[in-house]
Amino acid sequence: MKTYTHYINGAFVPALSGEMFDSVDPYSGEVWARIARGSSADIEVAVTAAKDAMRGEWGSYNATQRGKLLTRLAELIEDDAPRLADIEVRDNGKLMAEMSAQTQYISEWYRYYGGLADKIQGAVIPTDKSNIFNYTRYEPLGVVGMITPWNSPLLLLTWKLAPALAAGNTAVIKPSEFTSASTVTFMELFERAGFPAGVVNTVTGFGADVGAPLVSHKDVAKVAFTGSDISGQKIYESAARDIKKVTLELGGKSPNIVFADADIEAAVMGAISGIFAATGQTCIAGSRLLLQDTIHDEFVERLVDVAGRAKIGDPKSSDTHVGPITTRPQFEKILDYIDIAKKEGATCVLGGRPYTGPGAKGGQFVEPTIFTGVRNDMRIAQEEIFGPVLGVIPFVDEEEAIQIANDIDFGLAAGVWTSDIGRSFRMSEKLEVGTVWVNTYRAVSYTSPFGGYKRSGLGRENGVDAIYDYLQVKSVWVATETSARNPFVIG
Ligand code: NAI
Ligand code: MG
Repeated sequence: MKTYTHYINGAFVPALSGEMFDSVDPYSGEVWARIARGSSADIEVAVTAAKDAMRGEWGSYNATQRGKLLTRLAELIEDDAPRLADIEVRDNGKLMAEMSAQTQYISEWYRYYGGLADKIQGAVIPTDKSNIFNYTRYEPLGVVGMITPWNSPLLLLTWKLAPALAAGNTAVIKPSEFTSASTVTFMELFERAGFPAGVVNTVTGFGADVGAPLVSHKDVAKVAFTGSDISGQKIYESAARDIKKVTLELGGKSPNIVFADADIEAAVMGAISGIFAATGQTCIAGSRLLLQDTIHDEFVERLVDVAGRAKIGDPKSSDTHVGPITTRPQFEKILDYIDIAKKEGATCVLGGRPYTGPGAKGGQFVEPTIFTGVRNDMRIAQEEIFGPVLGVIPFVDEEEAIQIANDIDFGLAAGVWTSDIGRSFRMSEKLEVGTVWVNTYRAVSYTSPFGGYKRSGLGRENGVDAIYDYLQVKSVWVATETSARNPFVIG
């Protein structure tokens, strides 16, 4: 049995308690690894290491030196991508077809932010005060706590770690208890790249045991989190006690909106990719399909035809389309929502059951599921299911499409399918979401800011914007001439 420990101050170490817990391969249903079960005592050691690293060699590096280390790391990731992909497929059930590309792609984040590190510049500000010179400088925050979910462990960690390190911070990472193995393995590369000990640390374990004490630790300056809105809210409340900064990415219920004038073939593929890629276990899932009423029936027919032919099974096979559900609680949650949808009066036109057919092995599979007759006030339209379950909602015109799309607490992303260029601009302006895709879905890159409006989160990941979420700006005033001004008034 494989074992994975914490990584603290440059060394792989067991939990101080000596405890471990199981990690399951969701395809076979079998325990395949044992993970160190951390506690607040381990967090204490890791945060101290990260704090000391800020004051040590790392703190003395200039931005170019940090950038070189990140570039070196990017090269090591490229070499190691197949191994990292294997682990994620095993632990998470993600498709090898997706992961072999994704682990390679991750290297680009470190290269991009490595390059950006020494291009962050303060300003010389022409103020109204004579004889005082004013300039700004950007400084790191300190120790950043990073808490990641199970759906894309290394990618979502990278969105936090690459800008945080480029900005000169140090990190204590708490991966999801369901998928810790890839993050622990990834730690080997920091050592090989030459990062000083303590700059990047990982403590494995559960949210309450490890995540909560990390968030509330007084020496943690900021928390970057991806996960559920409920946990995100708890983290925000806890961080508020010490006025900590947060970046929160809390998922969504994204509308994928198809107008009658769209390229229907492309839109069907976009709808499928929006909800059945990664078995629907993505924050950006296009889980509400809004169809203009004049194309509704024809579109649903084509969608059911294509989705009904999706191959379910072994995530390692290159021809598999839909893999297992990553965690047992998630599997049960999806099936609960399917029941809720039926009770709410939606019509199940595809799937709606656990899949036990060929290729299912011992895994927890759910059939690609489509409901029509969904109203936007139903729970299956308002709550994040995080699985292969699509709700179809008809609309009459642009105005109603916007009204339905925005009538929700979330605001992560939206898709718009139309051949009318003017409409694509109007829709993009009116949608209350952090990302709009026009005639495409799921495009995400290190170059472009990503994050949520409304309850989908705070702050941005990716792109130039994200690095400023890991920096604070200082304004420095230097008198160029001493003067005998009245010291009792502010001027
Ligand atoms: P979660 O939000 O509970 O867990 C995410 C991470 O936060 C894990 O590392 C967990 O250990 C940690 N955590 C949980 N409670 C914490 C606390 N009080 N303080 C500090 N850390 C804490 O997500 P979970 O239970 O794995 O999945 C539940 C639901 O969350 C899913 O059904 C889905 O709807 C949503 N989700 C959204 C994701 C997104 O990308 N936005 C990713 C994963 C899940
Ligand atoms: Mg697992």
